[in-house]
Amino acid sequence: MTDQHVPDPVSGRVCAETDPETGSETDPETGARPASSPRQKEQKGQDAGGLSPLDLGDGRYGEFGGLFVPETLIPALQELETAFSTAWVDAGFRAQLDGLLRDYAGRPTPLTDAVRLAETLGGPRVLLKREDLNHTGSHKINNTLGQALLALRMGKSRVIAETGAGQHGVATATVAALFGLECAVFMGEEDVARQALNVVRMQLLGAEVIPVSSGSRTLKDATNEALRDWVATVESTHYIIGSVVGPHPYPGLVRELQRVIGTEARAQCVASTGGDPSGVIACVGGGSNAMGIFADFLDLPEVRLFGVEAAGKGLESGLHGASVQRGVPGVLHGARTMLLQDEHGQIKEAHSISAGLDYPGVGPEHAALAASGRATYIGCTDAEALDGLRLLSRTEGIIPALESAHAVAALSRLVQEGVFTEDDTVLLCVSGRGDKDMDQVAAYLDLTGRA
Ligand SMILES: Cc1ncc(COP(=O)(O)O)c(C=O)c1O
Repeated sequence: MTDQHVPDPVSGRVCAETDPETGSETDPETGARPASSPRQKEQKGQDAGGLSPLDLGDGRYGEFGGLFVPETLIPALQELETAFSTAWVDAGFRAQLDGLLRDYAGRPTPLTDAVRLAETLGGPRVLLKREDLNHTGSHKINNTLGQALLALRMGKSRVIAETGAGQHGVATATVAALFGLECAVFMGEEDVARQALNVVRMQLLGAEVIPVSSGSRTLKDATNEALRDWVATVESTHYIIGSVVGPHPYPGLVRELQRVIGTEARAQCVASTGGDPSGVIACVGGGSNAMGIFADFLDLPEVRLFGVEAAGKGLESGLHGASVQRGVPGVLHGARTMLLQDEHGQIKEAHSISAGLDYPGVGPEHAALAASGRATYIGCTDAEALDGLRLLSRTEGIIPALESAHAVAALSRLVQEGVFTEDDTVLLCVSGRGDKDMDQVAAYLDLTGRA
C-alpha cells in the first residue's frame, strides 16, 4: 500500500486474477443486462458490421498498468471489460455512441488554424483541436457518454465519479441526467472552493456532490473516496473514471473513448495541410486528452509527441504535479505507474494552479511512453500557464482552460528553443474552455496587478 491516508479498499493490494462472476442476469453472449427505461434502451443485437474487435490485452504497458484492487472489485472490472469489448464490435452500440457524439456533444470538433498565435510566436503553423467546443466545455464528455452507455448495458442504475477541475464531474452529471441515472460525484474540498461554478452545474444537473476533506482535499482524495463507495455499491453502481488511470481495463477503455480526438484531428490536418503534423502537444493530468490525441500517431515515429505536466511553482520546488518527470514507480488507484511519493512509499501532495492537473500520478500508458522515449514530457509552471492563457486569449480570441493553457505555454517554449520552426505544423489540443477558471485567474491578476 502506497497511500498512508487510505484504508484498505483503495490500497494497492495485489489480487489474483480470478474468473469473473458476472451475475446471473447477464446475457451470456453479450455480457449485457436488460435496459430498464425507454430512454435507456440500446440498439442491440446488430452484428459487428465489419468493426474490428478490440484487444485491450492484459492492461500492462511495459512495467506499468495492471490490476491492483481488492477482490470485491475484480468481477466488476471483468464485467466492464467484457461489456466494452462486446459493445465495441456491436454496430448498434457504435451507432448510438457516434450519434450522441455528433448530435449531443457536437462532434466533430473543429481544427482551428491559429494564424495570429503562430505569427506572434514566429514559429510553426499551429492547428488547435477544439475540444473546448464540446457540450459541457471539454473532452471529458467523449468518455462519459461511452461509459454511461456501458453502465446501461451492464444494467447499472447509478454512476459515480471523481473530479478535480469539475469538468469530468459535470460531464458525468450530464450523461446521468440524459439517461436518468442516479449520480454522485466526489470532489476534494479545495477543488470545491476553486471550481465553485462547476459544483453548481453538477447540482443543477441533479448530481450529489460529495466534498472530500481527507488528505490534500484534491483529486487523489476524491478518487480514494469514489473507490471506497464503489467497493460498497458495486452491484448497482458503475464507476465512471475520468482519465486513463486506474486498474485495467480503464486506461485502455478511456483511451479508446478519447481516440476520436486524434482520429478526427489527423484527418482534418491531412485535409488542411496535405500531411501529418510534425508534432502533437497536449496537457497531462491523468492523461486522457493526451492519450486521445496521441493514439493515432503512436505508430508514426516522425510525429513528435509532447505531454505537458504541471510544474506548479517549479520542478525543483517540490510543489508540482509532474509525476512522469519527478515521480518514481509505485502503485496508486489500482495501477502501477509513475507517482509522486516519498522514500517510505507515501504519496506526496501534488500542486498546480489547475485543478485538473493537480494529481500525484499519471496514466500507466504515459509512464510507458516516457520510458520508451516515444513521447516527451515537459513541465510548465503556474505562471507560464497563465501567460499561455493570456497569449491564446489575445491572439485567437479563445480563452482556454488552465489545463490546456499549459499546452500553449509548452508550445511557446518549444518554439523559443527551436524545437519547432516555421517549416513545422503543430497540433495542439485545447482540452477545455476557460470559463470555470475565471475566478481564479481574476484573483491572480488582482494579486499581481497584471492585466
Ligand atoms: C479541460 C481539462 N483539460 C485537461 C484535464 C486533465 O485531464 P486529462 O489529463 O485526463 O485529459 C482536465 C481535468 O479535469 C480538464 O478539465
